[in-house]
Amino acid sequence: MATRIHNFSLSLDGFAAGDPQSFETPFGHAGQRLHAWMMATRVWDPEHGTSGVDEAFAQQYWRGIGAEIMGAHKFGPPGWQDDPDWRGWWGEEPPFHTPVFVLTHHAREPLEMGDTTFHFLTATPAEALRIASEAAGGQDVRIGGGATVARDFISAGLVDHVHLVQVPIVLGRGTQLWEGLEGFEEAYDVETTASPSGVTHLVFTRKSPLVTS
Ligand SMILES: NC(=O)c1ccc[n+]([C@@H]2O[C@H](COP(=O)([O-])OP(=O)(O)OC[C@H]3O[C@@H](n4cnc5c(N)ncnc54)[C@H](OP(=O)(O)O)[C@@H]3O)[C@@H](O)[C@H]2O)c1
Repeated sequence: MATRIHNFSLSLDGFAAGDPQSFETPFGHAGQRLHAWMMATRVWDPEHGTSGVDEAFAQQYWRGIGAEIMGAHKFGPPGWQDDPDWRGWWGEEPPFHTPVFVLTHHAREPLEMGDTTFHFLTATPAEALRIASEAAGGQDVRIGGGATVARDFISAGLVDHVHLVQVPIVLGRGTQLWEGLEGFEEAYDVETTASPSGVTHLVFTRKSPLVTS
């Protein structure tokens, strides 16, 4: 079992979302710019989308994944915890198709939608990973972000594979990934692929596999 991050898009100055996040602007002033590379591929637009480097990377998001862990601010805009009817951004058929564990200090009952079930829990990264690993049935666990949760799991040494997508824009403000992760790259082998779309894919693979009990 491995723990993986995929399709995690960052501006040149290291922001994974702009500011402020709201129901109308889930990525703040970044709009769709951080994910335009992915939305242009067949993964997002099967009929008219592109194939090639970006599509090949984007597809890895689903391969061999048995569960996801995400942060409360990926699941909804600020204040969603006060709305008992909030069911996430993704409509009645969320694109995860696995159990999803939403880390939040405002836990609620599980929410089953299509073949995705959202579970809400307050737990340390290590505890959450143990629970998600059990649910993943021998497959890998994806850390879905946002930046706060990705940073916490990387910082705890719990992530084996990190696929970042550097988007050539400068946001200037928003939610940063890198704070506190000085020297992060030392634990990983790094491969870089430039795409004709203008983004750069960076893949960090842990040098020695985690030993888990
Ligand atoms: N660039 C990308 O590829 C990408 C990927 C995913 C998401 N995003 C975007 O990133 C933004 C969200 O990122 P973010 O960094 O602001 O927030 P986040 O990582 O989604 O969520 C952070 C929040 O989750 C809860 N939480 C985190 N760890 C917890 C724990 N151990 N136990 C209990 N609760 C815990 C806390 O919320 P509470 O205390 O309020 O419960 C915390 O404030 C959104 O705009 C999203 O769309 C971008």
